[in-house]
Amino acid sequence: MIYAENLRKEFTKIVKEPGLKGSFKALFHPHKEIVVAADNISFHVPKGEVLGFIGPNGAGKSTVIKMLTGILTPTRGQCWINGKIPQNDRKNYVREIGVVFGQRTQLWWDLPLLETYSVLKEIYEVSDKKYRERMSFLNEVLELDDFIHSPVRTLSLGQRMRADIAASMLHSPKVLFLDEPTIGLDVVVKDNIRRAIMKINQEEHTTVILTTHDISDIELLCDRIVMIDKGKNVYDGSLRKLKQNYGQMRELSFETDTSEHLTPEKFYKGLNLSGEDLTVKNDKNIFNVRFNSEAIPVGDMLNYTLSITKVKDISVKDADIEEIIRRLYKEGADEIE
Ligand SMILES: Nc1ncnc2c1ncn2[C@@H]1O[C@H](COP(=O)(O)OP(=O)(O)O)[C@@H](O)[C@H]1O
Ligand SMILES: [Mg+2]
Repeated sequence: MIYAENLRKEFTKIVKEPGLKGSFKALFHPHKEIVVAADNISFHVPKGEVLGFIGPNGAGKSTVIKMLTGILTPTRGQCWINGKIPQNDRKNYVREIGVVFGQRTQLWWDLPLLETYSVLKEIYEVSDKKYRERMSFLNEVLELDDFIHSPVRTLSLGQRMRADIAASMLHSPKVLFLDEPTIGLDVVVKDNIRRAIMKINQEEHTTVILTTHDISDIELLCDRIVMIDKGKNVYDGSLRKLKQNYGQMRELSFETDTSEHLTPEKFYKGLNLSGEDLTVKNDKNIFNVRFNSEAIPVGDMLNYTLSITKVKDISVKDADIEEIIRRLYKEGADEIE
């Protein structure tokens, strides 16, 4: 259904020196820099699958979605969706897809919502019968009734997002691209949106690409995940497998006595494990040790720790998927700042 092949997108950014002088210089002799937002991104999504497309902030997710929806043209590489190249066949292509960018509405600001939908009905040439059926379905799952006569600009974020989702589903698209559709929403609205996605996927076998920071979105909806970081593919597979891969990871936290002078090196040297199996971080006398329990059993790790230092408090827990992803996002975000 969806093929992305070696997608690359470069942006040119004008770098300005600070101050007024810098502004003039940038105006007349711009110093340009190339930002690679997507680098060799490839994946395939079969019909009817809900794909979680995830990665830290700035990873390039929105850029890839913009290429897949035909908003941006790839610098290199190509994509096919339902046999079409979005950039080549935009007019027909948009009828087959639905798009939501959580950060920005696609609705007409001043029109009452219902009128927006009737305009969309005309644009997408939806028959009267189909439109009535569709609206009643969307009303039911997304609960639009309360605000369907209000202008879009008066809607709350949660209402607007439900309205946007409904707009993207109105013409029964074959593929839905949802870029952060649950961002900033409360649990009830999130639940509405998830139900709508689930229903449309089950009943119409709509293929969905979903970008989200919410692990529950992924657990509830996604058959598979593709993870990117810094514009590159880093994982493609099931959530279950990702969990298994990381399932062996444990986290040991402890606090040493203030009189102790323990350093992370003591772990690296003493245990002779590589960075993949062991990472030790400390903030003064509070230590956090992540380790692969296949490389060193939990008991051995505890014994070793107790043999090299005096601890005040100690605990071991699983590194769960939520934490892995949260950390991954956080690390990415930190690097960008
Ligand atoms: N129009 C643009 N011009 C210049 N740089 C851009 C543009 N759009 C995105 N970028 C850069 O490309 C990178 C990826 O951005 P984006 O695709 O929005 O990431 P994500 O959606 O994963 O957070 C970022 O470093 C961002 O600053
Ligand atoms: Mg984005």
